[in-house]
Amino acid sequence: MTPNALIEIVNVGFQYVGSEKAALRNISLSIQKGEVVAIVGHNGSGKSTLCKMLNALLLPAEGKVTVEGMDTREEKNLLEIRRRVGMVFQNPDNQLVTTIVEEDVGFGPENLGVPPAEIRVRVGAALQEVEMSAYAEKASHALSGGQKQRVAIAGLLAMQPEVLVLDEATAMLDPRGREEVLSTVRKLNRERGMTVVMITQFMEEALGADRVFVLSEGRLVMEGTPREVFNERALLEESRLDAPAFVKLRDELIAAGLPVSLEAMSCDALADEICHALGA
Ligand SMILES: Nc1ncnc2c1ncn2[C@@H]1O[C@H](COP(=O)(O)OP(=O)(O)O)[C@@H](O)[C@H]1O
Ligand SMILES: [Mg+2]
Repeated sequence: MTPNALIEIVNVGFQYVGSEKAALRNISLSIQKGEVVAIVGHNGSGKSTLCKMLNALLLPAEGKVTVEGMDTREEKNLLEIRRRVGMVFQNPDNQLVTTIVEEDVGFGPENLGVPPAEIRVRVGAALQEVEMSAYAEKASHALSGGQKQRVAIAGLLAMQPEVLVLDEATAMLDPRGREEVLSTVRKLNRERGMTVVMITQFMEEALGADRVFVLSEGRLVMEGTPREVFNERALLEESRLDAPAFVKLRDELIAAGLPVSLEAMSCDALADEICHALGA
């Protein structure tokens, strides 16, 4: 067990009933308090299955998952685990349960039995954190996808979670909505030390993470910093993943003889290196 581990996954295996192959095979990883972790992998690699293990929506058939030391297989831990691990899913239209924004954000704490006055305080604060205060009394269905996902995040914040798990929460959004959700999550991590687990198909989104985990066929095949993972192009391709676009451009420039360093791990850093290399 790692000293600051918030979530600990040890030798977890899982197979769906009626399925011929395992969805997860012997996965071990731990997530520290305050870190941003990205989980990437091709379609069907087991990302959502792993995600559902984090808040006991699914229980491991083999191995063990603990959240702050609480075993997800023990029924008595269920409520505490669900409160601590907040999940945002892919479809913005499936997450909001009531018609008015502030009611929606208050729904979670209400179910937890939080007193009404305290709920109002939490709802106000949560809407402010996701910059949706101006929409408190608006109809949820009229919001954009990015706004709906931010309201969903506010609903989780109102339950005072330890970790936010986003399972491809930006996949159905336009670029603006994606950016809204990403910057909200980054801010929560930076300013409140919120632990974040981001599952994504967009390699660019994983660049901002402290650590990246790569799943393939239910196995954990790579883990490391974004720089370590995205510079292993051959291994990524074996896992049917593509490096971020600027990494590919960078490598082509290097292959063409431009003295650009492998350290350039963002578009801006690459642009600087190109200017430098061209003597601009
Ligand atoms: N409810 C289910 N019943 C049977 N098989 C499933 C179910 N959900 C997922 N699977 C299978 O488990 C594997 C992992 O799926 P999933 O975790 O959803 O992957 P990802 O989120 O990476 O796309 C896939 O082979 C998928 O077909
Ligand atoms: Mg999935």
